[in-house]
Amino acid sequence: MIPMPLVEALRNAQHAVIFTGAGVSAESGISTFRDSLTGLWERFDATSLATPEAYQADPALVWGWYEWRRMKVLQAQPNPAHRAIAALARRVPRLTLITQNVDDLHERAGSTEVIHLHGSLHQPRCFTCGAQPDVPLAMPDEPEGGRRLSPPGCARCGGQLRPGVVWFGESLPGDALEAAFQAAQQCDLLLSVGTSGVVYPAAEVPGIAWRAGAVVVHVNPQPHVEHPEREFALTGAAGEQLPRLLEAAFGEG
Ligand code: APR
Repeated sequence: MIPMPLVEALRNAQHAVIFTGAGVSAESGISTFRDSLTGLWERFDATSLATPEAYQADPALVWGWYEWRRMKVLQAQPNPAHRAIAALARRVPRLTLITQNVDDLHERAGSTEVIHLHGSLHQPRCFTCGAQPDVPLAMPDEPEGGRRLSPPGCARCGGQLRPGVVWFGESLPGDALEAAFQAAQQCDLLLSVGTSGVVYPAAEVPGIAWRAGAVVVHVNPQPHVEHPEREFALTGAAGEQLPRLLEAAFGEG
């Protein structure tokens, strides 16, 4: 049963922020990072795959791993959580969608103006000059984790391409972070969907909204609720909980 205060908060929201993490894509078959046994950082070593130093030490290992992840995303489909979020944009006067994810499943579900705090698998760029060419996928199908692949060269400067994601130790895109913090400051409802909330500065977003007076809802099989008031948990999978919440609030799944 969806708690009535949540249904009312969504029905009356003038500006809703949806803040998503890897859990929103889990039901599309995309691995999260920290779920036990299946999480990417449980199975692969982040320091040798997701830092600028790792790329400079072994560009082929890093490029091949991200191309494997890009292939997994291309093989996946948006799930009911992505579709419910896209539907919500048609129900509230203003909706800001902020994601930590580097997949394009929100866009493929119909969401627009998605704020990507950690970049995108679909925007590789030159490590040297920053050019962003379109890159055809180099692998039809691959074993888990992919294989070493030399990154394509940059047609503009002859450098090498790198994945268009934010690595550990790198700054987030300033305009995206500023837009996310501003929306969190201004919203009256924030749904945090499928994130462990352990990676900063992205993880600041729900706290900014709560301190600014918004109602905050965590949609997660293992939610973490900090405050006794104005903060709720919808415990369960996003692909189940979000359609139920929309049904309860607006009569649509
Ligand atoms: N529905 C909702 N939540 C889910 C589901 C699901 N079906 N399955 C798992 N979850 C939850 C988990 O309980 C966990 O809290 O999703 C969360 C995933 O947490 P992480 O794997 O840590 O992913 P995320 O929070 O997005 O990580 C943040 O860390 O490595 C960096 O850049 C990477 O953007 C990523 C950041």
